[in-house]
Amino acid sequence: MQITICKTPEEASRLAGEIVNNAIKKNPKLVLGLATGSTPLLLYKEMYTACKAGLSYKKVRTFNLDEYYGLPVEKPQSYRSFMNENLFNHLDIDMKNTHVPDGLAKDVEKSCAQYEKMMKAAGGVDIQVLGIGGDGHIGFNEPGSSLVSRTHLVTLTPRTIKDNTRFFTKSSEVPRYAISMGVGTVMEAKCCLMLCFGKNKADAVKGMIEGGVSQFCPASALQYHPNTIVFIDEAAASKLTLKAYYKWACQHPAKLN
Ligand code: PGA
Repeated sequence: MQITICKTPEEASRLAGEIVNNAIKKNPKLVLGLATGSTPLLLYKEMYTACKAGLSYKKVRTFNLDEYYGLPVEKPQSYRSFMNENLFNHLDIDMKNTHVPDGLAKDVEKSCAQYEKMMKAAGGVDIQVLGIGGDGHIGFNEPGSSLVSRTHLVTLTPRTIKDNTRFFTKSSEVPRYAISMGVGTVMEAKCCLMLCFGKNKADAVKGMIEGGVSQFCPASALQYHPNTIVFIDEAAASKLTLKAYYKWACQHPAKLN
């Protein structure tokens, strides 16, 4: 893992934005894996600001990590609505190149297999944007999820339901299930770009970076990913034992010359 501790979420998102926007400059047909939640919002702003300044997203293909199960897409809380509102509507992207799991699929298994197939047919995800749950989840892969899982239907934890109640009027409105890429699916991305902000992420960040690799903290699987870039702010980094070393290594990158 390449770990960068930033002073602010703004700085972290600017650096992450440079990575995404530069990759699109090099490959206008880049395949992006995308996430919802509060964390990637500033990164998405970096992306559409670059687009408004002339970087075309027209041919970019996207696959979102997850979607609530049973929630109509037109509801503002659906992840399709979230993506349209916070990113896609601000880009020149071709909407038919944007994919979100089908939370209303009648045959869920078939639909999940189809989602995996579409990602493969697109050549696989080049950069997967990730946030982390306070309990260490990635996508909706909650603690206890298999680390080799594929896109599947998951049962949300009471904690995730509580955390996500802020987007609904009351907790009973939060769906209990979701369709999510599996940890194994995420691990196939060529590059994972993980952003973590705030002190309520500090324990999860500690587990992801310095804990043992375990389904107890699904994000810890990224320790086995060959190209994961992590941008965290000071608050999220506050429980890291090797925090001073990560900063030192960042200032003195291991490059010859
Ligand atoms: P957040 O959610 O970005 O809203 O904190 C992240 C997650 O639960 O994966």
